[in-house]
Amino acid sequence: MESPFKSDVLKGKVALLTGGASGIGLEISTQFGKHGASVALMGRRKNVLDSAVNVLRSLGIRAIGLEGDVRKQEDAARVVDSTIKHFGRLDILVNAAAGNFLVEPENLSPNGFRTVMDIDSVGTFTMCHEALKYLKKGGPGKGPSCGGIILNISATLHYTASWYQIHVSAAKAAVDSITRSLALEWGTDYDIRVIGIAPGPISDTAGLSKLLPEEMRSSIEHMPRFKFGEKWDIAMAAVYLASDAGKFVNGTTVVVDGGHWLSRPRYISKEEVKKLSRVVERRSRITPTGVPSSKL
Ligand code: COA
Repeated sequence: MESPFKSDVLKGKVALLTGGASGIGLEISTQFGKHGASVALMGRRKNVLDSAVNVLRSLGIRAIGLEGDVRKQEDAARVVDSTIKHFGRLDILVNAAAGNFLVEPENLSPNGFRTVMDIDSVGTFTMCHEALKYLKKGGPGKGPSCGGIILNISATLHYTASWYQIHVSAAKAAVDSITRSLALEWGTDYDIRVIGIAPGPISDTAGLSKLLPEEMRSSIEHMPRFKFGEKWDIAMAAVYLASDAGKFVNGTTVVVDGGHWLSRPRYISKEEVKKLSRVVERRSRITPTGVPSSKL
């Protein structure tokens, strides 16, 4: 699909994206590149990085792949430094690396819980921590009152509660909290804008095939407002938020899910509501003597 944004809205910017070589992260890398940014992709698998970089370069995008695991502070520091060595500056950090699997809490080991917290929450903080010196105002390529942007990819699982997702719900709740805290503290001290995106179910992603395997799809098709989004939907939100169009958005996580998280089964039909509403109203009306009219 065509982008509604001008192709130079991110011109001259450099973005580093964890998880940027696959799924939603790769689509954000692609759209950032198509809108003028240079991109550094961080990931654990060299072959995945290589093929993503080849695709991006074939589109004329300046891209590099950097191997690393967000759970290792030394990897985070090395990848951030390599981005600076290669491109000379860092304007946008996207934390898209995440881990997930379906599991009942009683069968999730504390190490399994910790693994997802380590990737999603601690990994996000570690990357922010290592990137600060380059993202803050006055950093390479930045003016004295112009810092960079941090974009954290979150979820909506923790807004209520989600079956078999205790670990990811806890991890993404922490990510949202990091988004708010850094927006307050680093926004004030370093002029860095910190925002999040909470995607709904997005087709053709590892997340969807893990959380909603084909075998389970029929069980959700009846859900109100259930439809799949596209990676493009998330990437367009990212372009908006990272560009000057989003300059007054800070400290919040934008839900991009077609309204899915608000989804509730309709427990009473419209016809029944029409029939019953006034009956119930009359029954519960209180007379001036304080006695319900139905009891008179
Ligand atoms: N059910 C229950 N526990 C599981 C599990 C599952 N499906 N998959 C992993 N675990 C547990 C392991 O048993 C282990 O705990 P233990 O030591 O107590 O046995 C712990 O999680 C770590 O697993 P391991 O496979 O060693 O971790 P890893 O670092 O190789 O992989 C994952 C991390 C598990 C998050 C893996 O799914 C991953 O790499 N994910 C990245 C891609 C992804 O999930 N994308 C979707 C994003 S929405």
